Amino acid sequence: MARIELRNARKSYGTVDVIKGIDLDIQQGDFCVFVGPSGCGKSTLLRMISGLEPITSGDIVIGGEVVNDIPAADRGLAMVFQSYALYPHMTVRQNLSFGLENINTPKSEIAAKVDDVAKMLQIEQLLDRRPKDLSGGQRQRVAIGRAVVREPRVFLFDEPLSNLDAELRVDMRGEITQLHSRLQNTMIYVTHDQVEAMTMADKIAVLRAGELEQFGRPLDLYNRPCNIFVAGFIGSPKMNFLKGRVSQDDPARLALETGETVQIPPTGFGQKPGAEVTLGIRPNHMTIAPDGPIHLTVKSVEQLGGEAYIYGVLQDGQSLTLHMPGQIGANIGEVLTLAPQSQEIHLFDTANGLSLREG
Ligand SMILES: Nc1ncnc2c1ncn2[C@@H]1O[C@H](COP(=O)(O)OP(=O)(O)OP(=O)(O)O)[C@@H](O)[C@H]1O
Ligand SMILES: [Mg+2]
Repeated sequence: MARIELRNARKSYGTVDVIKGIDLDIQQGDFCVFVGPSGCGKSTLLRMISGLEPITSGDIVIGGEVVNDIPAADRGLAMVFQSYALYPHMTVRQNLSFGLENINTPKSEIAAKVDDVAKMLQIEQLLDRRPKDLSGGQRQRVAIGRAVVREPRVFLFDEPLSNLDAELRVDMRGEITQLHSRLQNTMIYVTHDQVEAMTMADKIAVLRAGELEQFGRPLDLYNRPCNIFVAGFIGSPKMNFLKGRVSQDDPARLALETGETVQIPPTGFGQKPGAEVTLGIRPNHMTIAPDGPIHLTVKSVEQLGGEAYIYGVLQDGQSLTLHMPGQIGANIGEVLTLAPQSQEIHLFDTANGLSLREG
């Protein structure tokens, strides 16, 4: 168990800056998820913390100690990768024991620890098999078991579930969160899947192109994204964005590029008369209303029974998604009039993408 701090941590390969100075404070016992698009630096940052990747500058602090010069093996961390990297010629028991044998743990102690971990992960009946005779989910549990048995201060996971099918992913997601609540270790979990991030994390760090965009609790990121990137990345389906200009004589009115005018919250945002702003509204935060200001031409409808998705285009041709509970009688080609729920509106400065939310 340990707190992890990054202080202006940087990583460059030659002239390529991959991690551009990240400050982060992960509290002891937190489940922290690094999320962001492919290539943004999630794995690199995790490997910098682990010690597998030397850092270019800044500090990595684990449990109050600067570990920049401490080798990976001595940092008290255990890492689980996307490829499970089990030893194919060893049985599950041998795979689980190997790390402890390496540090000369007494045999009886190893056996007891391996049995405990196998029980916790429900792989007791698999201990004599080899990895090739296991399912993907079982292999994943062995890989996690191999990390758990070493009783690390911190667990680092790099997309451990991406090789699994959808159903197994959901199961394993639950198992990893339960593991966290049992062990109470600090965990860092890398994924590009924002649903995994939302459902598993105590805190989410959203990364983009080597920079930290926002760090906070899942619902804080959902409710108060600091910029258009985070707003678009967190939440599924994605937030809709509509560009417009704040009315010169009434800052509570926004003239959209579609030619329509919508009411925007008069307070809570720092919009100035005449400013170019982007209105963000989630697909589930609009209602169909006879006098709704936004006209949507329906292009396709997905009825899932308990909920429905409507995909359409606005008068200027840009697309917009609507997500409604229940079942909706909308036809392709039909024009719906929509009203954004005013308390759910987000406003961003169009030029720099930053939220205009005050306070
Ligand atoms: N040796 C290297 N030299 C130059 N650039 C590198 C090197 N290794 C990685 N990179 C770059 O660093 C960036 C971050 O890579 P990283 O693997 O951390 O991304 P990621 O967020 O984990 O992506 P993914 O979701 O695809 O796994 C990428 O743009 C990658 O091309
Ligand atoms: Mg990666």
